[in-house]
Amino acid sequence: MKVLVVGNGGREHALAWKLLQSKQIEQVVCVPGNGGTASMAGCQNLSLPGDDFEGMSSYALENEISLVVIGPEVPLAQGITDYLQSQGLMVFGPVRAGAQIEASKAWAKALMQSAGIPTAKAAVFTEAAAAKSYVNAQGVPIVVKADGLAAGKGVIVAQTLEQAEMAIDTIFQGQFGGAGNFVVVEECLIGQEVSVLALTDGLTIRPLLPAQDHKRIGEGDTGENTGGMGAYAPATIATPELMARVQTEVLERAIASLRSRGIDYRGVLYAGLMITPDGDFQVLEFNCRFGDPETQVILPLLATPLEDLMLACVQQRLGEMPPITWKQGVAATVVAASGGYPGEYAKGKVITGIKEAETTGVTVFHAGTKLNPQQQIVTDGGRVLNVTGIGENFEQAIAQAYAGIKAIEFEGMYYRRDIGHRVLH
Ligand code: AMP
Ligand code: GLY
Repeated sequence: MKVLVVGNGGREHALAWKLLQSKQIEQVVCVPGNGGTASMAGCQNLSLPGDDFEGMSSYALENEISLVVIGPEVPLAQGITDYLQSQGLMVFGPVRAGAQIEASKAWAKALMQSAGIPTAKAAVFTEAAAAKSYVNAQGVPIVVKADGLAAGKGVIVAQTLEQAEMAIDTIFQGQFGGAGNFVVVEECLIGQEVSVLALTDGLTIRPLLPAQDHKRIGEGDTGENTGGMGAYAPATIATPELMARVQTEVLERAIASLRSRGIDYRGVLYAGLMITPDGDFQVLEFNCRFGDPETQVILPLLATPLEDLMLACVQQRLGEMPPITWKQGVAATVVAASGGYPGEYAKGKVITGIKEAETTGVTVFHAGTKLNPQQQIVTDGGRVLNVTGIGENFEQAIAQAYAGIKAIEFEGMYYRRDIGHRVLH
């Protein structure tokens, strides 16, 4: 089998890496990929603009690609699955209508409310004055969200009324582009976040191991929100009892509600949960794709061949598959970022020590990297590398990840030293 993977992050490197571990997979082509996918045996990059679905389709048809896997939310929301399927390709990832569950927070909130999925109390506004008077009536802290895709920047947890009003103005002024038509104002929840990613063929739902991300840039979960600075799996806070409730109260209700709207949702359904201090939970958001960096800790533990699960989702026969099996142990990943991220940062810094790191037993998944003309790996984004350790327990996995990352250097490199702090204490 040859597989095309769309995207260029750590998630896509991990997907390509996992697929290539199977004897069934002869080749993976990443569009556009990164420095890691360019230098991995069996993998190659194809340079095409992210919205050139026609180009991807012609390539896939001419090169006998058996499966196309979509990594990021943006092409899904643009209808890449609908288009590639119409050309006769097998595509893992939901159709455009299904991707709305991530691409419109107002739409997702309405779905959650109508399906009885536990979620924070919220109201949706189309103009600033009404949103502000609601915020004033509710008080702070309060959460203000831009409706559409905003690369993780569209959520403001406001501690003061001023911050909340400013967030409302910023969103309606269109600073998040198309994300500026609606504002969702939501009750502020406290607790621990957990990511539950599930595979679905539109009928059957099979959750993967729960994972915990670390969204903030600073140690102790302080500072600005990022795409994610590290993760571990399985997240022990998501107990079997909690996972059973998530299955019936969240995943099954969401898929049934999508079906009742005529949406045949196949791919990953990712529920971002807040576990409140009383042990209960609420859904913060849905994503229509694998999480990044959660994928970099979930896939190394997966024993069932990934392509078998993906094809079963695409062909709607997930219910016939035996239960998903997992390897012994746990995984942790630490993200090495460019200095300045999530703000301004430089690119093109030469990265050294990846091979040395790998000799310590870690797996290094590239995110924002590329090969320069001298064939050196250089930085090319905010989140640069994910260093994943595996162990029998979290002490081991986390220690391995940090031992590996110590071998790696590039100018301005930053990483959090406290990944997994919740599970260690
Ligand atoms: P979202 O894209 O909706 O998951 O929001 C991004 C991040 O904002 C989440 O991972 C949380 O850290 C935070 N967040 C979102 N909604 C809430 C909420 N209702 N209460 C507290 N934090 C939230
Ligand atoms: N790790 C958060 C996300 O993938 O949205």
